[in-house]
Amino acid sequence: MATNYEEQNQAVDEPSKQPTGTVSSVVGWINDRIPMTRVWNMHIAQYPAPKNFNFWYLFGSLAILVLVNQIVTGIWLTMNFVPSAEGAFASVEYIMRDVEYGWLLRYLHSTGASAFFVVVYLHMFRGMIYGSYQKPRELLWLFGMLIFLALMAEAFMGYLLPWGQMSFWGAQVIISLFGAIPVIGEDLTLWIRGDYVISGATLNRFFALHVIALPLVLVILVFLHIVALHEVGSNNPDGIEVKRKKGTVAEEDKPNFKFHEYYTSKKDIVDAIPFHPYYTVKDVLGVAGFLILFCWVVFFMPEMNGFFLEAPNFEAANPLKTPEHIFPVWYFTPFYAILRAIPDKLAGVVAMGASIVVLALLPWLDRGKVRSIRYRSKWHKLNIAQFVVTFLILGWAGATPQTVFSTILSQICTVTYFMFFVLLYVYSKNEVTKPLPTRLTK
Ligand code: HEM
Repeated sequence: MATNYEEQNQAVDEPSKQPTGTVSSVVGWINDRIPMTRVWNMHIAQYPAPKNFNFWYLFGSLAILVLVNQIVTGIWLTMNFVPSAEGAFASVEYIMRDVEYGWLLRYLHSTGASAFFVVVYLHMFRGMIYGSYQKPRELLWLFGMLIFLALMAEAFMGYLLPWGQMSFWGAQVIISLFGAIPVIGEDLTLWIRGDYVISGATLNRFFALHVIALPLVLVILVFLHIVALHEVGSNNPDGIEVKRKKGTVAEEDKPNFKFHEYYTSKKDIVDAIPFHPYYTVKDVLGVAGFLILFCWVVFFMPEMNGFFLEAPNFEAANPLKTPEHIFPVWYFTPFYAILRAIPDKLAGVVAMGASIVVLALLPWLDRGKVRSIRYRSKWHKLNIAQFVVTFLILGWAGATPQTVFSTILSQICTVTYFMFFVLLYVYSKNEVTKPLPTRLTK
């Protein structure tokens, strides 16, 4: 396969790329008024993607797919859902039993929520191992973190809607955390709930935020995320920038280098290939693999042994009966374990908040010059490995009833979680790394 971007492509406005006939005149008419073909070519068809993208680069497109699934199935669920304390639980039963394919819509949506977190966690992990958060992609990472926060809020509010026991009591636990904030805590919880207890008023506002406000915020943030990506270009598994022809000065070494100006002007970028067809075809394969797994869960085990849909949630919310154990859904459990690890409520809330905020600071905590794990020290590899193990253990600990053992384990893992960032800050300054290749490898 030729790897010279210029050989395989035309400039983004190349007339011969335009269709002919009636379609051409319609497309031409639109193009005279908005830059449809130009935007399509710049950001999809001819976006110069590094030639060495691997498996880890599938998850961005999969996240878009899952986002679309959530929005579409969400719209149809809304058509039969009743957002009131009296009607919510029964309307979900009605969707499951009486609405045509209502069960499918609901399982696509509930499984989609978990799939979203699986995909996004893997997507973030890819960013960590290949140093994609490092300069010049800090803002891209920050948009990603805002997406992550919005996604957590979206999932949390969505979970209250079926008005089951876990919906009610889970929300009770999380909202009461705000009460730990000094001075304003009590007023804040009242303001969030819209009542002295979790009630129909809470359900109503969570519904509004879940179906309109947060999806809108998510879509806007994803748009900005991609704009930020295409301004600086994609990183890749080698963590070095794509290069110009051999022997010429790399554009990115010149002052004021702008990736987007570079590729719109049909420069000879070696080591990059047009997104279409090379990565569209790869993404289609990834989507097929993902859908096989996804449909298997939707059709054969939508509750995933209580991990995706928890057993107490098949019982209507009862403010007079606390469930024996209250757990959040699996994707929150690592952070929940950090919260429970610390006996003091306020300190626990602060630690849990810090465990998320610290991720956003990665671009500044990692002072290394080399991005990819491939060329970094064994200390870095070990540190990332311990972080993965820590995160998994915390996830387990947050999903089990609290015992002395699980508490001690959570406390140890809370320390090792934060140690990852402290150690990274310390060793990355003078890290001994392997020599970087001058061109992308496979
Ligand atoms: C709705 C959620 C998200 C969507 C739809 C999304 C979408 C995408 C897409 C399509 C790409 C380009 C393809 C790829 O590199 O995989 C991308 C790249 C990237 N995303 Fe996201 N993303 C989401 C969440 C996040 C989060 C939570 C983070 C991290 C906090 C993040 C960090 C990044 C980074 C660093 C890149 C560039 C990776 C590289 O070039 O090596 N994204 N994202």
